[in-house]
Amino acid sequence: MSDPSIRQRKLDHVALAMSDAAVSTRDPGWSDVTLVPVTLPETNPDDVDLAATFLDFDLQAPVFIAGMTGGHPDVEKINAALATAAQTHGAAMGVGSQRAALVDPDLVPSYAIVRRHAPDAFICGNIGISQVLEGETGTDVMRRLIDMIEADAMAVHINVLQELVQPEGDIKPGGAYDALGELVAKSPVPIIVKETGCGFDRVTANRLLETGIAAIDVGGMGGTSFTLIEGIRAATADDQRGARLAQTFSTWGIPTACSVLEVRETGLPIIATGGISDGLQAAKALSLGAHLVGIGRKILAAAVDGPEAAVEELGLIIEEIKISLALSDCRNLEEFAARQPVLSGQVALWQARDKNLNKGGAD
Ligand SMILES: Cc1cc2nc3c(=O)[nH]c(=O)nc-3n(C[C@H](O)[C@H](O)[C@H](O)COP(=O)(O)O)c2cc1C
Repeated sequence: MSDPSIRQRKLDHVALAMSDAAVSTRDPGWSDVTLVPVTLPETNPDDVDLAATFLDFDLQAPVFIAGMTGGHPDVEKINAALATAAQTHGAAMGVGSQRAALVDPDLVPSYAIVRRHAPDAFICGNIGISQVLEGETGTDVMRRLIDMIEADAMAVHINVLQELVQPEGDIKPGGAYDALGELVAKSPVPIIVKETGCGFDRVTANRLLETGIAAIDVGGMGGTSFTLIEGIRAATADDQRGARLAQTFSTWGIPTACSVLEVRETGLPIIATGGISDGLQAAKALSLGAHLVGIGRKILAAAVDGPEAAVEELGLIIEEIKISLALSDCRNLEEFAARQPVLSGQVALWQARDKNLNKGGAD
């Protein structure tokens, strides 16, 4: 059954995400992370090998094109462009929530196109925690979602604040850990849990670890803000409550850099997403312990212009990561992981909290 409101929301999200008004006014933390330069390095950027392994899958670079779209015929081209970039550079890629295609099978091609353009890439499906809680992710549905894109993993997105703000939001908190545990047990592919702009705290990350999930995408604050996007949609629809809530909670969340510090003690593979728009910021996220960096808005903006622009943008980001490692005199991610960045400001405060809690302080 077709639901025009879901299709429209998918288009609204892409259009609004392009506006500066959709970007958090808070800093994701990169200005508080300094990579220590090796003044006279002996490593050439061309000799830096960014090969990474994520959930037993070999990537040429530790970059994940964040799950963003699908769900409207008009976004099919964008997904094709993003997939071309992932395939060209050996990066991973996610699609946006596939719920739209469950409700309206005519929308399947807007997701399926990704696998056609990225036959060898790590591709991740996407569904919301609300669907998991509503029992809408039974074995058959999971099979459909996975087969739609031949997914290597499935992401479950958490967006409690967005659901509370949006007029059509539906969130019934409670029972999520049990539901996720059941999903993990029956899913034929690994389950990644991701936030979409508020980040993960340490307590949640540790509880998620017990459910058997395979990785966490921190989806921290400081980049695309769905609270702000829903606020704009609410204001346009004359929904004063939604607009007011979005304004009040627009800075709610944990900055991406700080969220990486919060979740790294789980030992789970971490994807750092939220407010990464160049390769130096990406390298800073890696230096904090992220295994991959997720990039949304920046590469989406390029993909809107077509596959060449998306390939070029992702290539530039990867080149910047290589230069960051070369300037640190590191030839690969393993060597780079052994380096300690200098932390200041809010990131240093979150690290101090981390250390205090590890000494037995109460959370
Ligand atoms: C237009 C758009 C649509 C998105 N849709 C989804 C979605 O359906 N599911 C999801 O998990 N995340 C979604 N996201 C969130 C991204 O995966 C990512 O977490 C977020 O954009 C933060 O990264 P950025 O600051 O680099 O944009 C979307 C982001 C954008 C920009």
